[in-house]
Amino acid sequence: MPDYRLDTACVQGGYTPKNGEPRQIPIVQSTTFKYDTGEDMGKLFDLEASGYFYTRLQNPTNDYVAAKIAALEGGTAAMLTSSGQAANFFAMFNLAGCGDHIVASSSIYGGTFNLISVTMARMGIEVTFVSPDCTDEELNAAFRPNTKLLFGETIANPALTVLDIEQFALAAHAHGVPLIVDNTFATPVNCRPIEWGADIVTHSTTKYMDGHGTAVGGAIVDGGRFDWMAHAEKFPGLCTPDESYHGITYAEKFGKEGAFITKCTAQLMRDFGAIQSPQHAFYLNLGLESLHVRMARHCENGRAVAEFLQKHPKIQHVSYCDLPGDKYHPRAEKYLPRGSCGVVSFEIRGGREAASVFMNSLRLAAIETHVADARTCCLNPATTTHRQMTDAQLKAAGIPAGLVRMSCGLESAQDLIDDIAQALEKVK
Ligand SMILES: Cc1ncc(COP(=O)(O)O)c(C=O)c1O
Repeated sequence: MPDYRLDTACVQGGYTPKNGEPRQIPIVQSTTFKYDTGEDMGKLFDLEASGYFYTRLQNPTNDYVAAKIAALEGGTAAMLTSSGQAANFFAMFNLAGCGDHIVASSSIYGGTFNLISVTMARMGIEVTFVSPDCTDEELNAAFRPNTKLLFGETIANPALTVLDIEQFALAAHAHGVPLIVDNTFATPVNCRPIEWGADIVTHSTTKYMDGHGTAVGGAIVDGGRFDWMAHAEKFPGLCTPDESYHGITYAEKFGKEGAFITKCTAQLMRDFGAIQSPQHAFYLNLGLESLHVRMARHCENGRAVAEFLQKHPKIQHVSYCDLPGDKYHPRAEKYLPRGSCGVVSFEIRGGREAASVFMNSLRLAAIETHVADARTCCLNPATTTHRQMTDAQLKAAGIPAGLVRMSCGLESAQDLIDDIAQALEKVK
């Protein structure tokens, strides 16, 4: 497909049917694929030919959707995973193993924080967390000789801090490692981190990409620019022969454009098996077809709600980077000129208790462990998604105990505001 604009890629990217083929992407609901000779299939096992042999490794439906996401992010290759958690784990574990070290922004999704600080630590991978507002000196000081990657979120969940992608990319590259950016909240409609220097982009496709609360999923996109061979001593997994794949050296055989995703598929998907089902990939594609239209409306509603809350006497503070005066507004103007997302965080005067009365009084917005849905939902992170974090960790991540995170859906903005207004009236 030629290089169409993003809106067109949302609708038609990844799959171009030939004469007489299905208009919508076919769901290839088959675990396995048939070959005439063992030699034909052997070539696939050796990565000598491209094709399908077992859906845990690759499936045509998933590949259509991955190709669309790669086009949206401006990457060279992509893969789908069973969840956003799997995407972030695979993206990091593809580069870092026992005895290695990673640097990550402290302002990230609680599940990713836990993955890095507890589960990956158990695997012998150390982490240094840095503030998303750190100085260049502080950022550079976090790197060690065994550091393998830098990680951050474009718009952090739920603190809504905005990453200085250029600053983080420059620091990562100065230390010979790639920058991985989780772009779940912004989506490529509002920010394309690869254009700002990021090397790998991840997604919880469960969020805006699906957008309808239908299917848990994830995606990893490679920008195809990081020169693994130039830093071969740091990345032996990519730059030396893989004996489990007949001595293939990924960076040599697949180059900058394809090495990362091929290794991630051939090793990690093979061994961990966190594949997205073709049915889920189909649902995801339905969401992607309207992503550009929905993101504009999510942002419109988020802004209307944030502006209302900002003027309300019972509200202590509103975080929404599209608001002039927000701490992250200057970065949003640079990285998110079309808008950020529909998620607004705010602190109600009266803390945890007041937040609880408010949420229980909402009629239209539902209490849910979810964001980025067509239907508006909200939660109190300190008692739900981030409950494994200590008060000190919550503070470092910019999440006060009484914070409410509201994900504005696609309903009428006025109905959302009326609902919030009546719920705030109940707060004494
Ligand atoms: C920014 C971000 N990354 C990753 C994840 C994990 O994604 P999933 O729930 O699809 O595993 C989430 C989930 O909320 C998220 O918000």
